Amino acid sequence: MLTIAISKGRIYEEAMPLLAVADIIPTVDPEKSRKLILPTSRDDVQLLVIRAADVPTYVEYGAADLGIAGKDVLVEYGAADLYEPLDLGIAKCRLMTAARVGDNLAGKRMRVATKYVKTAQRYFANKGMQVEVIKLYGSMELAPLVGLADCIVDLVDTGNTLRANGMEPRDLIMNVSSRLIVNKAAMKMKHQAVSEFIRQLRLIVSSAVIETG
Ligand code: ATP
Ligand code: PRP
Repeated sequence: MLTIAISKGRIYEEAMPLLAVADIIPTVDPEKSRKLILPTSRDDVQLLVIRAADVPTYVEYGAADLGIAGKDVLVEYGAADLYEPLDLGIAKCRLMTAARVGDNLAGKRMRVATKYVKTAQRYFANKGMQVEVIKLYGSMELAPLVGLADCIVDLVDTGNTLRANGMEPRDLIMNVSSRLIVNKAAMKMKHQAVSEFIRQLRLIVSSAVIETG
């Protein structure tokens, strides 16, 4: 049995066409069911539907053989014990700093609101800036509007969320896309099934890159 960990929503929607190429089609819709283990059209493959930030944990500990997770989540988690063989090129966005339009933050000891605490601390430390990082679990864009923070570190795609809240993107921290991750023991113990799955995904991902240029 191959067990693949994935989060509901954006990553699930974008990954399904890729998994279908390996004949993996869930037989239960996670948006309509409360099931957390989804059977698929392949008897030897099941999906675990979990929170995005939990995917590396399940894979690192071997509760799932494989997983699909955003680079943002992987960098924040800091897993040393995972393989990351493939950039799937889905759920693309950017991890950025952002602040209220026009706010001058130069020389200020900033308060930074984010759910990416470790990544933010490392980013500002590398720039030689002392900041106070405040951990939030979502809706980071609110924090500067109500005086909780001077700036945020969050994902930006279209920029609509920032614009709708009177904020603007500032500095790019990293480009983000979703990656296939593999448990190290599974890579050895289930070598044939895992490497065949990676091979199939790699083919479809590289042909998608060629089609979209
Ligand atoms: P949860 O719902 O469990 O709190 P989440 O809000 O981080 O988690 P999603 O919004 O589905 O879950 O995000 C999952 C991943 O998708 C992120 O880690 C990131 O890699 C990517 N992502 C998030 N927002 C965007 C976006 N606006 N555009 C493109 N990709 C995104
Ligand atoms: C993500 C992210 C930003 C938004 C950016 O939130 O946390 O708020 O997308 O996208 P945009 O630049 O296209 O507006 P998401 O939609 O996933 O909501 P949630 O994480 O707060 O559930």
